[in-house]
Amino acid sequence: MNLLFIGDVVGQPGRRAISDQLPTLRNRLKLDLVVANAENIADGAGITRKTATELFAAGVDVMTNGNHAWDKKEALEYITTEPRLLRPHNYPDGTPGTGWFVATLASGHKVGILNLMGNVFMHPHLACPFTAASRALAEKPADVKMVLVDLHAEVTSEKMAMGWYLDGRVSAVVGTHTHVPTADERILPQGTGYITDVGMTGCYDSVIGMDTEKSLKRFVQKLPERFEVAEGVGTICGVLLDLNESSGLCRSITRVRVTESVPETASKVA
Ligand SMILES: [Fe+2]
Repeated sequence: MNLLFIGDVVGQPGRRAISDQLPTLRNRLKLDLVVANAENIADGAGITRKTATELFAAGVDVMTNGNHAWDKKEALEYITTEPRLLRPHNYPDGTPGTGWFVATLASGHKVGILNLMGNVFMHPHLACPFTAASRALAEKPADVKMVLVDLHAEVTSEKMAMGWYLDGRVSAVVGTHTHVPTADERILPQGTGYITDVGMTGCYDSVIGMDTEKSLKRFVQKLPERFEVAEGVGTICGVLLDLNESSGLCRSITRVRVTESVPETASKVA
């Protein structure tokens, strides 16, 4: 079965690229399931009902999340009404929403999606993502053979460690958050697909999706400046995972990079 995982969708350029390209990708890649990390879909930070609805309408089936989950306050209420929108599973008990969802495919097969957040340089007060992963897998229904894990984390080492920790126990571990794709996709020895970071879906003429000039002001002049989403052509960065429905393991993992089609006159947006 073919699963496309789309890396961190940043603002309007990211949403636009998905609306423009995902319907074609669904057919071309014979996708059975599409999961996207959506923590930056609304103005580059957070999630609103309106922006999430836009991505669901474009063909995203399930959305994962991260450290910007609550930047738009309406997400606290919205997430309680939308089970296909996850938040990291290692938040304390009682946090709105959940980090676990089971998607049922047209074929009847089930895929568990588990969203976790890293502790290192990220969110040290959340529960250990490794313990949270083991706990979630222990509670997994027996008919859920395939499991995708999105570990939203800052450091490469924590994500790699999670790959090894879950090798053979889940279908794939994909990393998100840094907005820069890594070239280390592979199948680990026990059959789990792995990549340290899937990369960003948004405008690459930017500093990780944010306006370059404003970002430079912060770095060069050390002056406060509000981040703003960079305007320009959007690119989808994702990974295509071919999963074995019986064993739940990964047959292949392939990086996917597709840019939105733009009219000739608009191909160079400032
Ligand atoms: Fe993040």
